[in-house]
Amino acid sequence: MASAVVKCLPLLFTYSLTISAFSLNAPAALRPRILGGLEVYNQCKSPYNSIAALEFSSGGSSVVLCSASIITETILATTAYCVENIKVLGENGLSVVAVVGERDIMGTDVEEQKIPISSFQAHKYYNSTTLDNNIGLIKLAMPVRLGNCVQLATRYEDDPTACTDLDRSCFMAGWGAYTETNAFMNSARLRAADVVVFGEFVSKIMTQTTESPLPTGTLIVEGANTNNKACTFDWGNLITCKRNNKYVLRGLLARDSCKTPDLPMLMLDYPRYQTWVDVCIRNWDSCYLL
Ligand SMILES: *[C@@H]1O[C@H](CO)[C@@H](O)[C@H](O)[C@H]1NC(C)=O
Repeated sequence: MASAVVKCLPLLFTYSLTISAFSLNAPAALRPRILGGLEVYNQCKSPYNSIAALEFSSGGSSVVLCSASIITETILATTAYCVENIKVLGENGLSVVAVVGERDIMGTDVEEQKIPISSFQAHKYYNSTTLDNNIGLIKLAMPVRLGNCVQLATRYEDDPTACTDLDRSCFMAGWGAYTETNAFMNSARLRAADVVVFGEFVSKIMTQTTESPLPTGTLIVEGANTNNKACTFDWGNLITCKRNNKYVLRGLLARDSCKTPDLPMLMLDYPRYQTWVDVCIRNWDSCYLL
């Protein structure tokens, strides 16, 4: 056993209950899940101010399809799944716009800006069946205006004290459904819930006995509160963890766990794609070559 690569091992043992709850025979109801959470009242502070809502209009009201993170003043990061859905909506005459400074979908928030999307791209090796490489980028038609309520996401950095195998310093935020119904609906206001992010080693152990292997570039994430899970429209949600005393961009919600009780929630491991993102930022058109 590669114990040298495992950090916070004692903590891990106390968490073995959670891990065994993922075995195929455990009843779905016992599996920890991120629905619910708490309303965010002040979106004008880090890291909430780095979240963009990807919205379209349906029957006169706004729907937040996905969330994204503000990487530069003109580039947002989200999942490839979201990018593909933006494309499909566009082909059906529904245009998705990015809204920064957003909190309440129904109202106009301080510093709120609705910005048209000029182009987007999914990772070249995104696989919609396996969800491998589930990352996508969005280019805005004009730069966001930075302010207290609109800021760039804080880049990931290493922190030797971080418990990377079982990271409980994290939370998730977005406009996903907060009650479990079959209807496609948003939470009208931004909500957040604490989550636990499992490291690659642990995520692999947790999925090796299942029929659904861990997609490339993703990690398992679960609600710190066992009633919490990710749901419809939580896709691309910001997942942030504490590093060196600040909240950094750790991941993007890559698969919800609402209608798939047998499958854990997944997070795109954003730092793994930092190089790809950097190249895309420098030269948007050469991005697809990578
Ligand atoms: C996606 O992955 C599946 C399973 O490995 C594979 O059969 C399929 O060809 C892949 N699709 C693409 C577009 O690569």
